[in-house]
Amino acid sequence: MKLNRNTVFDCSVIDVSKVHDEAGNITVVENGINIPFDVKRVYYLYDVPGGEARGGHAHYELEQYVIAAGGSFDVILDDGKNRKIVTLNRPNLALHIVPGLWRELDNFSSGSVSLVLASHIYDEKDYIREYSQFKKYRNG
Ligand code: TYD
Repeated sequence: MKLNRNTVFDCSVIDVSKVHDEAGNITVVENGINIPFDVKRVYYLYDVPGGEARGGHAHYELEQYVIAAGGSFDVILDDGKNRKIVTLNRPNLALHIVPGLWRELDNFSSGSVSLVLASHIYDEKDYIREYSQFKKYRNG
């Protein structure tokens, strides 16, 4: 198992830009252009009932872009020492989540859509789902 020393400060919000005209906007994310890993999987979270939270886990290897494709929500990042809350509310902004961090998503606005671009296909073995196990992984 690879020990990971990434911190919440390695996660940043990237303006992936948009193509605007009077008929609306298009945002494009392309491997090798405006994302620092190759995308292997795309999923999206929607119909989250009011007051619900998602996430509540860490990944050993997975890297992600998280985008509020519609509406808004908060992402809480935790590296075992530091916590950071990022509010996402624009479809052209992507939160880059590096591997090894605990994350939770909450405060979803009604009708919000969380679009996730991921560096690996789904693998349950890449998850840490117990916070106590995560703390041990990070802090020994
Ligand atoms: P999970 O990643 O725990 O969701 P969240 O972080 O949004 O709370 O996944 C929830 C369920 O969906 C779990 O049973 C696994 C399944 N799932 C897949 O089958 N493939 C996927 O790509 C993802 C993200 C989840």
